[in-house]
Amino acid sequence: MKKKLTLGLVGFGCVGQGLYRVLTETQGLETEIRKICIKHPEKSRSLPTAYFTTQREELLGDPEIDVIVELIDDADTAWEIVQQALQRGKAVVTANKKMVATHLDELRVLETKYGRPVLYEGAVCGSIPIIRNLEEYYDNDRINRLEGIVNGSTNYILTKVSEEGKSYAEALGEAQVNGFAESDPTLDVEGYDPTFKLSILLTHAFGLRVRPEELIRVGIHRLSAADLSFAKANHLRIRLVAGAYRHGDKLIALVAPRFVPDTHALYSVRNEFNAVSVEGLFAEEQLFVGKGAGGNPTGSAVLSDISALRYDYRYEYRKTTQESRPEYSLDATVEVVVSCAPSVRISPEDFVRFKGGERNRETHRLQGEVTLSTLADWSRRDDISIILAPGAIPKPVEVPKQEELAAA
Ligand code: HSE
Repeated sequence: MKKKLTLGLVGFGCVGQGLYRVLTETQGLETEIRKICIKHPEKSRSLPTAYFTTQREELLGDPEIDVIVELIDDADTAWEIVQQALQRGKAVVTANKKMVATHLDELRVLETKYGRPVLYEGAVCGSIPIIRNLEEYYDNDRINRLEGIVNGSTNYILTKVSEEGKSYAEALGEAQVNGFAESDPTLDVEGYDPTFKLSILLTHAFGLRVRPEELIRVGIHRLSAADLSFAKANHLRIRLVAGAYRHGDKLIALVAPRFVPDTHALYSVRNEFNAVSVEGLFAEEQLFVGKGAGGNPTGSAVLSDISALRYDYRYEYRKTTQESRPEYSLDATVEVVVSCAPSVRISPEDFVRFKGGERNRETHRLQGEVTLSTLADWSRRDDISIILAPGAIPKPVEVPKQEELAAA
């Protein structure tokens, strides 16, 4: 690809404007935004009107534009635009996690068919260069565990509610005003957004294609004042964690809130910061921390992808062809703390291993190991709050060996 790139930008919201700021303040990068396609021409804009169009064809049909930078939040329209851009021989940079997580297989086919790269570092953890690191640095080290705070809005809410005593609604409102939250914030608080990101990470870290809807998802929207008090009383914090755990040839992955003690790598990650802890077989634990949401941090990741196109960088997805890649499994157990009103029917028999419980007038709290299938059932109920226990590591269900079965 030529050194000087001409960009067609689709979307000029929080991230688009962040990219514009980052781009104009970066020295030495010979890159120009030719045109910006927007949906709402009536909105007042910070740039001359000549930049803007509502017709995507003005970008796609412009032979001078080398790269389409797609930064809108509608995943279906984004997918249409990305396909058209690749068909027209343009490289693509996108930050649309839902679109990437949903269409990753097709994206890779189109990349090969049309010979143009698609990069999406800005789709996962904002400014943290986690995808590039998984692709390049960890291409041979076997990763045994990956745990991350991958959603800035929910981390912001959890921080403000537990450390500053703000109400959930107030903290969510601030996350929206600051441009961290999705247009539909249920995607954040109900954990959908982290499943998109975890799905993408599983491909780059473990070579596995697990669709977002195949992942168990527990959000933070059912956490109660009693959960926050329990955390405080036990010197714990609650973090919404996207985790993947390898046990031999099995890989267990889920998104759920968890209690973290002060010894945990994610304990001191606050506000809109994200963090990913990666445990390699030989490198052991490494922690990546950075701002995970907001215009400038995400814009900086998008810029880094644009810059990488100048030296023809593309993802090689090397882990997907390694023979030793694990198999995604839901046949596992994990230790949880659940709380509900005393009238809700949950009993020790629902647990594979029950550890104990307490009941007062307002809350019934039970702790123990459950199967992922029970966890999935409970995650769909609106009368139970579920938090992974401190130190909980999901484990595969032990299948008895033939000789043990025979002896029994
Ligand atoms: N809503 C997302 C978040 C934006 O809060 O992390 C960045 O992907």
